[in-house]
Amino acid sequence: MILDGQTKVYGIFGYPVKHSKSPTFQTAAFQHLGINAVYVPFEVNPESISQAVESLRVLKISGVNVTIPHKESVIPYVNELSDEVKVIKAANTIKNVDGYLIAYNTDWYGFVEGLKELEPTIEGKKVLVIGAGGSSRAIIYGLLKEGVDKIYLANRTVERAKKLLNEYLQHFKVVDKIIHPIPLADINEIVKEVDIIVNTTSVGLNDEDFPLFNYDFIEQKHTVVDIIYKETKLLKVAKEKGCKYQNGYPMLIHQGAKSFEIWTGQKAPIEVMKKSLNLHY
Ligand code: ATR
Repeated sequence: MILDGQTKVYGIFGYPVKHSKSPTFQTAAFQHLGINAVYVPFEVNPESISQAVESLRVLKISGVNVTIPHKESVIPYVNELSDEVKVIKAANTIKNVDGYLIAYNTDWYGFVEGLKELEPTIEGKKVLVIGAGGSSRAIIYGLLKEGVDKIYLANRTVERAKKLLNEYLQHFKVVDKIIHPIPLADINEIVKEVDIIVNTTSVGLNDEDFPLFNYDFIEQKHTVVDIIYKETKLLKVAKEKGCKYQNGYPMLIHQGAKSFEIWTGQKAPIEVMKKSLNLHY
């Protein structure tokens, strides 16, 4: 890779950002297509987010991904929000067009494309989504776009799940017929009814974490997604039961691929991106 005065700069805003895999696979994609660009990590303290966004204009940085904890807090500082950001209320991608900043969310798309690697038809399916935070909002947006039949939205704080439903009602008609908020304690009763199980919470990150429900109820017919970047207890059980399952990497790769396409207008080399992370799925 030869850098020169015309090299474009892309990156990721996060805090922390040390563990991000995006610089690895985005750089692999730029190199593969011979695009004169670099992609670097930017550790941005939460109190500095407005200055960080302004720096995109000042330094003419072409685009960034935005990760935890900045996905909501960048929103007031950009010039334009794409339609999906207006609904999800979180952005993970910013494109700089001559100082005019446009915010996008590609997490929902990443989730859908990742899931399609296991389950090509999502339309008409019944889904259990656990968690009602920022990741869940993007995933539910994707599932609604795909035309799922039912979403049981299970959350520790059931009020938060109800709030999500009420907000989405303003954007999607009859969504109250699709989304059903439930407490975590009720998962055991409904799990036999669903086709797909998705964990969007951080529960499972530590091996000693309590199970989200009684995993004995998982059956081979279930497709199980955990957006954590490891084989959690939930995924171990899914594997033992012979289910189709995946961790958070397919979603990560596909959200990044969409960001790449938004920035460059070129089709992202998905296989190259996966290979750079040694992902062979
Ligand atoms: P993210 O952006 O990653 O989704 P978030 O917006 O902080 O993160 O949301 C975290 C989600 O994980 C929430 O659904 C949260 O439940 P509450 O709304 O009840 O807080 C869930 N979560 C986090 N820790 C949890 C735990 N120990 N048990 C159950 N749910 C948990």
